[in-house]
Amino acid sequence: MKQITVKLKGNSYPIVVGGHVLPLLPEFLRKLGLGTDAVVITNPLVNRLYGKALAVSMLKQRFSVKFFEVEDSERAKSAEVAFDLIGKIASYAADKKPVIIALGGGVVGDLSGFVAAVYKRGVPFVQVPTTLLAQVDSSIGGKVAVDLPQGKNLAGVFYQPRLVLADTSLLSTLPRRQVRNGLAEVIKYGVIKDEQLFTFLEKNYTGILDGDTAALSHVVLASAAIKARVVELDEKETKGLRTILNFGHTIGHAVEAAGGYKKYHHGEAVALGMRVACAISCRMRLMKPLDAERVETLLSAVGLPEEIKGISQDRILKAMQFDKKFLGSKNRFVLCEALGHVVVKEAVPLAVVVKALRMIAG
Ligand code: NAD
Ligand code: GLY
Repeated sequence: MKQITVKLKGNSYPIVVGGHVLPLLPEFLRKLGLGTDAVVITNPLVNRLYGKALAVSMLKQRFSVKFFEVEDSERAKSAEVAFDLIGKIASYAADKKPVIIALGGGVVGDLSGFVAAVYKRGVPFVQVPTTLLAQVDSSIGGKVAVDLPQGKNLAGVFYQPRLVLADTSLLSTLPRRQVRNGLAEVIKYGVIKDEQLFTFLEKNYTGILDGDTAALSHVVLASAAIKARVVELDEKETKGLRTILNFGHTIGHAVEAAGGYKKYHHGEAVALGMRVACAISCRMRLMKPLDAERVETLLSAVGLPEEIKGISQDRILKAMQFDKKFLGSKNRFVLCEALGHVVVKEAVPLAVVVKALRMIAG
């Protein structure tokens, strides 16, 4: 078991990474002084897999624990579901300030964080991420939100968890497509900050896809450490530093939106966006073509998509203009200079974007 601290003024918190750490949850809650009343938000699939183990460990340590399930879908990240949960928690524990535990992937994590931030103007919140994507990315850094009909993550706040408990043995039940999805974000960390991590992935991706727990724990820990350091420097994304976490996301988000959030999972869309970002970086003579080739080769080896299928270039460009990364009318891309080093560029000429996009979109 390894521990990292996200050091923030007034709201630092530990990230615990390791195999079979779930039963340690009540001990950590006690140490952090988060009370003995817990509300767990999860979905039916994850509850069936891990709910009982969590409940047993909590009850053994004399915690009260109540589970609420939400639909297993991005549709659960809605204002309706969030306020329905808030009402149910209020009815269950009107006299208490329970700790809210998110047991699930990024959907459950983002939704539960939003609920915790709003209920009684904020109750303690703990992330128990169960997907690779959530363990390396969404559970860390306090971006919590629900979607609106007008767009994804439009109602949200920064609300840091008090603890992230990433049990890598829970990933053994994750479908391979979801492992790939999370690996896209791990590859992103290698490109933006850590060439050694990138090289590790080149050597070990098959083991990771096959569920090698040592390799998985290594990449979760390395990724969490990078995200923690970036968040520490720019908690609320006001200094332009946290922006580097969006490598591949300018096009990635546009692909997700243009596909109606159904065609590609987040990591898959980010993988496509990273291909375009590398192509733009080469065209702007920032990145050596050999480095870009290494990124493309690794993404393909992992089984992440190589082409954008069934979504036209025009739709993607239109969706891009609605992205939060557009400042006024200027676009903003995170581009790669060398593996482990990126730079944020504004107003990349549209012709360069279009040429890079054309390589993978119809
Ligand atoms: P998800 O939460 O939908 O989980 C993917 C699937 O895996 C679901 O069907 C889920 O039930 C299943 N699952 C979860 N754990 C499992 C396990 N251990 N074994 C078997 N199946 C399991 O998807 P996700 O990729 O984890 O998260 C995507 C969400 O995260 C999106 O809403 C996205 O906007 C958000 N996100 C947030 C941030 C952030 O910083 N807050 C960053 C990236 C993504
Ligand atoms: N997922 C990007 C961020 O947390 O800033």
